[in-house]
Amino acid sequence: MPAPTSAPPPALDAATIDRLVAEATAAFAAAATSAELKAAKAAHAGDGAPLLLANRAIRTVEPAQRAEVGARIGAARAAVNQALAAREAELEAQELAARLVTERVDVTLPPDLVPTGAPHPITALMDLLGDVFTAMGWEIAEGPELEAEWMNFDALNLGPNHPARATSDTLFVEPLSNHLVLRTHTSPVQIRTMLDRPLPIYVVCPGTTYRADEFDATHVPAFHQLEGLVVDKGITLGHLKGTLDHLAAVMFGDVRTRIRPSYFPFTEPSAEMDLECFVCRGASVGDPEHPCRTCNSEGWIEWGGCGVVNPRVLAACGIDTDIYSGFAFGMGVERTLMFRNGAADMRDMVEGDVRFSQALVGGAR
Ligand code: PHE
Repeated sequence: MPAPTSAPPPALDAATIDRLVAEATAAFAAAATSAELKAAKAAHAGDGAPLLLANRAIRTVEPAQRAEVGARIGAARAAVNQALAAREAELEAQELAARLVTERVDVTLPPDLVPTGAPHPITALMDLLGDVFTAMGWEIAEGPELEAEWMNFDALNLGPNHPARATSDTLFVEPLSNHLVLRTHTSPVQIRTMLDRPLPIYVVCPGTTYRADEFDATHVPAFHQLEGLVVDKGITLGHLKGTLDHLAAVMFGDVRTRIRPSYFPFTEPSAEMDLECFVCRGASVGDPEHPCRTCNSEGWIEWGGCGVVNPRVLAACGIDTDIYSGFAFGMGVERTLMFRNGAADMRDMVEGDVRFSQALVGGAR
C-alpha cells in the first residue's frame, strides 16, 4: 500500500491557488486604465503578492509533494502573467484607439487662415500715383520729413513774415535755434531735387507732411502729398494742365477739371486745380432747392495747388531762367482717396482698423 500522503500546507492547496489566480485575473479585468492595471499588477504579480509568497513557500513542502505543488504554482503564475500581458495589450490598444479619436485631424477641413492684414489705402494710393508718373518716364524723389526751415520756406520764396510760418500752422522742432520743422508740404523736395539732379527734371515726390491742425473728419495733423516738378526747355502752363488732366483721368475716370488763379510764393502764375463735384456734377449750382454739401453748391472741389515755377526759385537753385522753365503741383493724397474711394472721414485713415484697409485697398489699387 502506498504510504498515505500528507496534505500540502493549506496556503498551497489547489483551491487556494485557483482562488489566487481567479482574484488576480478578476483584478486585471477590472482595471480600466494602464495606471489601474499597474496597481493590480503590484498587488497580484508583484514581489509581495500571495502567489509569489506561495512560490517561496514551496521549499517548505515535503519533498514527495514538492514537484506537484511546484508545478501547480508554476502553472498558476504562468496563467496570471498571461492574463496580465493580455490585459496590458488590450488596454494599450484601447487607449491608442481613444487617442486616435480625440487627436483626430480632419485633413479635408479648410485651413485656419491667419488674417493677413492689408496695405494701408494711403500707401497703396501713393504707390499707384507714383506708377502713373514712372510710366511716363518720370522719377520718384524723396526728402526728409524733419526739414530745414530754410528748405521748407525761404528757398520757396516764403518771406520771413509769411503767415504759413506761424506756429499755429507749423510744427517747429526744439531747440528752435536749429531751425528744423516737420515739413508742412512736400515742396522742399523741389529745392532738393533742383540742387541735386541734372536737368531736365521730371520727378514726383509722394510723402508725409505735418501741420498743427485739428484732428477731425477733414483734418489730420500728419497727412500726405504728392509733389510734382518739371524743369525743362519750353515748359508752359499748357504742359501743367495736360499732365494734371492725365492724372485726373487715371484717378477718377471721366471727370471735368479746371485750373483757377491762386497764389503761391514759389509759382507764378499760380493756380488751384479743381475737379467737377463728383456728387452733384455741377447740378447744384444756382439750384437752391437741391444744395450740395460736398461742393457747397459751387460745382467744383479743390484738389491741389499748382503753377509755373517762379523764376526766383529756379535762379536760387542756379538754373538759367532764360533757357529753362518749369511747373509744379502738390495734391493731397487723403483728399484723393476721399474723392476716389468715397472715404468720408479722414480719421478712419489714421485709426489703423484693418477692415478699413481691406474694404478700400481693392479700390485704391
Ligand atoms: N505746397 C503747396 C501746398 O502745400 C502746394 C503746391 C505745390 C502749390 C506745388 C504749387 C506748386 O499747399
